[in-house]
Formats: sequence, structure tokens, C-alpha cells
Amino acid sequence: MTYQAEYARSIEDPQAFWGDKAAALKWFRVPQQILSRDENGVERWFADGELNTCYLALDVHIEQGRGEQAALIFDSPVTSTQKRYSYTELRDQVARFAGVLSAQGVVKGDRVLIYMPMIAEAVIAMLAVARLGAVHSVVFGGFAAPELAVRIDDARPRVVVSASCGIEIAKVIPYKPLLDDALARAAHKPDACVVLQRPEVKAELLPGRDLDWQAAMAQATPADCVPVKATDPLYILYTSGTTGRPKGVVRDNGGHAVALKYSMQAIYNMNPGDVFWAASDVGWVVGHSYIVYGPLLAGCTTLVYEGKPVRTPDAGAFWRVCAEHGVKALFAAPTAFRAIKKEDPEGQLLQQYDLSKLQTIFMAGERLDPPTYEWTRDISGKPVVDHWWQTESGWAICANPVGIEMLPAKPGSSTVPVPGYNVQILGPGGDELPAGEQGILALKLPLPPGCLPTIWGDFERFKSGYLSDFPGYYSSGDGGYKDADGYVFIMGRTDDVINVAGHRLSTGEMEEIIAAHPAVAECAVIGVHDDLKGQQPVGLVLLKDGVELDEARLEAELVASVRQVIGAVACFKRAVVVQRLPKTRSGKILRKLLRQIADGNEYSIPSTIDDPASLAEIEAILNRRGLLGKS
Ligand code: COA
Ligand code: AMP
Repeated sequence: MTYQAEYARSIEDPQAFWGDKAAALKWFRVPQQILSRDENGVERWFADGELNTCYLALDVHIEQGRGEQAALIFDSPVTSTQKRYSYTELRDQVARFAGVLSAQGVVKGDRVLIYMPMIAEAVIAMLAVARLGAVHSVVFGGFAAPELAVRIDDARPRVVVSASCGIEIAKVIPYKPLLDDALARAAHKPDACVVLQRPEVKAELLPGRDLDWQAAMAQATPADCVPVKATDPLYILYTSGTTGRPKGVVRDNGGHAVALKYSMQAIYNMNPGDVFWAASDVGWVVGHSYIVYGPLLAGCTTLVYEGKPVRTPDAGAFWRVCAEHGVKALFAAPTAFRAIKKEDPEGQLLQQYDLSKLQTIFMAGERLDPPTYEWTRDISGKPVVDHWWQTESGWAICANPVGIEMLPAKPGSSTVPVPGYNVQILGPGGDELPAGEQGILALKLPLPPGCLPTIWGDFERFKSGYLSDFPGYYSSGDGGYKDADGYVFIMGRTDDVINVAGHRLSTGEMEEIIAAHPAVAECAVIGVHDDLKGQQPVGLVLLKDGVELDEARLEAELVASVRQVIGAVACFKRAVVVQRLPKTRSGKILRKLLRQIADGNEYSIPSTIDDPASLAEIEAILNRRGLLGKS
């Protein structure tokens, strides 16, 4: 099958295409209805099918005789530990933890919030929730207590699962004080918290509410899989939007399982028994899809890595893990390779390892700049595949479909639309633009299985945020173009979302925090180019009239506030005082123009601008501070 034939069939007859792919799963009730509409009028996949995602990720492989095969390898250079779980061992741990949750009253449809570092128990907790037909919401460990509290109030979990600490490069981060702080701030109170005590830090447990993971596991009765409808939610994953309020992306069970299983073969060329490593974090969508569900649904071995690309202990870490565990496909963010390149530009550390099993390196999460693409390809000697996707899609929208047909790569392009995705470039009026013209990347409906059907508890936000700009299309928030060969080039966000070290962040949220400072009249946060992290946020701050303040002190206070509210992961380190912000005559800050200035791109001055002189002034300030970059 060529890519062209596979793609054409997915677009011309999506029902037949996805009906065939669904047959690769062992359903409890095989779906007859392939595509239908839900009460919101949204197209849904496999509505009358019944399944259990944990069963498909674990039990099915044991039934098929692969119980002794490695399901999960935990590799933690920061604690000098490694542990291997066979499919049978992982299923037993998961069933037992499902018993722990069940004893706390968790039933189908309940939410369980997971706030854990990159350890095997985070995966065990996720799968245990899925086993009960409940809904997990994993919160990335780098978020601070107020962010965690917002998610607790939105998801309203019956139980929270956490650990005593996470370990970053050379520092131990106690999680329990952050969780306690978040619970004190949140209006919603869970019935129980299950806390894994790690040797590095002992957490204080609150009698009557907090349970010790080990003790609860010792007493638990293993729980079996609960059948759910294909359209029932598997998880909620919060992601940054343009406002301070994070969006709870909902993933269903059926479409998700079908799409991820298909992707493991079609995109990543993985077969049962192969080792797949997504060097991400379970707190992000890449972690959900390709540390946990994708590899396990495909009967592969997945790797949970508690470490960094560098300094744990050196820039050879990725190559060491690939060699030691026989990784066939490695998936990471470009920023990780930029970090490796910075410390080991000649790839000398790589020479120490046997990478003969490694076939392909995949990258996503941010734009893969051609120099990083070329460097990684040249030093590793492996094909490097850039692929574009979002939390909302849950799997790649554009990729080089290595398992169908490896197409020639073009640096700067995430190759072609993946089967199932009807990718169009639209002009401002919604017209489909010809090859070479830059516009908004939009997906013609229906979206393929696996993509979000709504925002948790807020369908209107889904509709207004994604479906209203261009009727009949999902609007991605990214801009780009297609070339004459149909290759897609992603040029960056068209809204106020930025990408820092592969982490998606909202500038709007940072602006809300900065604007709350008593000296600040107004502000704009923009993403400026950063050689390592792709982008870094910079605050442009206008002071209230008459305020006299040391600029360095103000910067330090604003940096501390953003870190305290959002977390260290925001990487907000720079704030500069400006005299004016460019605005339209109606008072709207021209953020797009600010982004263009900061990126060192050409810009034209809009006729609606109130104060054109402000532009040159800001350009001069950014230049003086070394913040003008070329993206
Ligand atoms: N828990 C607690 N804190 C965390 C954290 C976590 N899970 N993850 C990051 N942080 C903290 C870091 O310790 C750092 O704190 P600091 O300001 O006190 O130093 C801060 O958040 C910023 O982290 P980061 O942007 O990751 O910078 P870094 O210098 O620690 O590491 C890289 C740089 C490039 C090595 C790292 O960003 C990386 O590996 N990125 C890949 C990202 C990725 O996999 N994204 C997933 C999408 S595929
Ligand atoms: P997230 O939801 O955190 O996965 O972030 C999604 C956003 O990251 C997308 O909307 C893009 O802006 C960006 N992104 C992800 N992958 C790529 C890629 N391969 N090329 C360019 N941008 C990307």
C-alpha cells in the first residue's frame, strides 16, 4: 500500500477505512455504528462499541501469550535505578492499584487526578483508572500549587494520586507540600489522596484522608476491567489556551485506542515486542499517547525515563538508553537535541554506544528547525522525522508515515497529512489557499478517531475556540503552508500560545499575573527566540503613572510571581519596562506585531495603529536587552 492510496481511502471513505482499523482491537462489543453525531452535533466514532482501554493495553497481550514480554522498563539515572515489568507483572500491579482506588469508592466516570513524577507508578495509576472505567487527569509535576488547584476544581476528582517527591537535575522537589497547598486553595475536596513514599523524601500524611501507596497495595483486592462505551471519556488533559483558564481536553476510549494502535504501525513502524521510547513526561500529551497507551496497545515495550537529555549524567544519556534497552524508535522534542548538541556538538559521546537497533528518531512539540534536524540526522546516521500534532489531536496530524512508506524528507516540513486528517490551508475568509500561500492550518471535519470531542464541562468553549472560525473545519491555531508536493510547513502559532522547551504555555495567563502587580498599568507577554528552548517569554511592562521603581527589582518580583503561580516550567525570566505599547485606535494591544518585531521579522505598520512611534521604541529596548532574535 502506498501512502497516496492509504491517504485517499481515508478521506474518500472514512467509515470503511476506520471500520477496518477498528477490527484490529478486541472489543467487548464490536461497533456497528462507525460514525454518528452526539447530542452536541459533533461527529463521534464507534458510538455503539464497548471496550476497556486497560484491557487492550495489558490483558489482551497476556491472553495472546506475551505475558512474559517486557511491557515497561523504568530507567532512572537520577536515582540510579532500573526496573523491568513484564506484561503479567504490570497487569497485576495495575489490577491491584485499581483495587486500591475502588476501595476508595472510585467507579466508572469518576475522575482521579494524578500528580506524579516520571516513575512507573504514574503509568500504573493511569492504567488502573482506565481499568475501572474512570477518568484520569494527569497534571505535570512542574506546575505550581495554584495551577494544580485550578485543575482540581475543574476536574473534581474523587481521589488524588501523588508521590512524596520528583527529582530534577541535582534537586529533589517535594510534591506533597505543593499538593497540600493546592488542596487548601481548591474549593473541591477529594475523598482521599494516595501517596507513594519515595526514599529521597518522606511525605507527611494526613490521617483520615491520605493513604500510603505501599500499605494500600498490600491490602487491596485486584479489580477487573469495567466495560465502557467507546465515547466515554478516558482522560482529561489540561492544556494552555489564550486565557488564564486551562482547557480540559477530553479523550474518548474507542477512537483513541483505534487511532493510537493504527499510528504505532503506520507512523512509527512498530511491531509487538519492539522497544519504543518517548522521552517526554506523562504530564504532556506525548506522554499519554506514546509513553503509556500507544506502545502498550501495540504490544511493544515502553520506556519510562526519569532523567534529562543532558546532565543525567551527560549529553550521552539518550544514546545510552537507546543502546542499553534496544530502542527501535526514539521520540523527543527538538529542544532536547539542541541541549545535547550544545554540550556534545561533535557527537563524541554517541560514539560510545551501539545504536544498531535504533531505526528512526521522531520529533514534535515545537518547530524542528533545519539546523537541529540536520545535526541530529548527521551525527546519528538515522532518519529524523518531524511530525506535527497537538494535545487536542492526541496523535500526529502531519508526519512521514514511516510504517506505510518512508517519503523523502524536506527540512522545515513535517511532511504530509496523516491518513484520516484532511489538512487545508485557509485564508482569513475561510477560502482554501493554493500551494505556497501561507494561512491558517485547519482540518476539514470530521476529525479522525482520537481527536477531542469537547472541552471538559464546556462544550461552548470547544465550539467557539475551534469550530466557529471556519464552519466545517477545526481551526488549529497554527499557521503554515503546503508546497507543490503537498508537504506541510508549520510556521508557528497564530494566537497567544507559546512553546518553551517543548512546553505549551499561555502568554495570556502570564499577563494576568503580571498585571496584578501594584506598579503595573498594562503589559504584554510575547515569545522571543531562544537558541535552546525555541522561545522564551518576555514581559513588556507599562508602569502606572508616577510610579518610580528599580527595574531590576520589578523584574525579580514579576519573575517570582509567575514562578509561584504557574511554576518553574513557565521559564519566565525577563521583564522590561516600556513607555508605550502599540495599540489599535480601539485600544487593543497589537501582539502579533510585537511578536514580529521580537523575532526580527519584517513587519508592516497597520493603518489602525494609534501610536506608530511605539514600535521603534520597543525594538530599540529589546535590542538593548539582547532580546531581539531571528526565529
Ligand atoms: N517537576 C518539577 N520541576 C520541573 C519539572 C518537573 N517535572 N520539569 C521541569 N521543571 C523545572 C526545571 O527544574 C526548571 O527549574 P529551574 O528554573 O529551577 O531551573 C524549570 O522547570 C524549567 O525547566 P526546563 O524548561 O525543562 O529547563 P531545564 O534547563 O531544566 O532543561 C531541557 C532543559 C532542554 C533539558 C529540557 O527542557 C528538556 O528536556 N526538554 C524536553 C521537553 C519535552 O520533552 N517536552 C515534551 C514534549 S514532546
Ligand atoms: P501541545 O498541545 O503541547 O502538544 O502543543 C501543540 C503545539 O506545539 C502546536 O499547536 C504547535 O504550535 C506546536 N508543535 C507541535 N509539534 C510541532 C511541529 N512538529 N512543528 C511545529 N510546531 C509544532
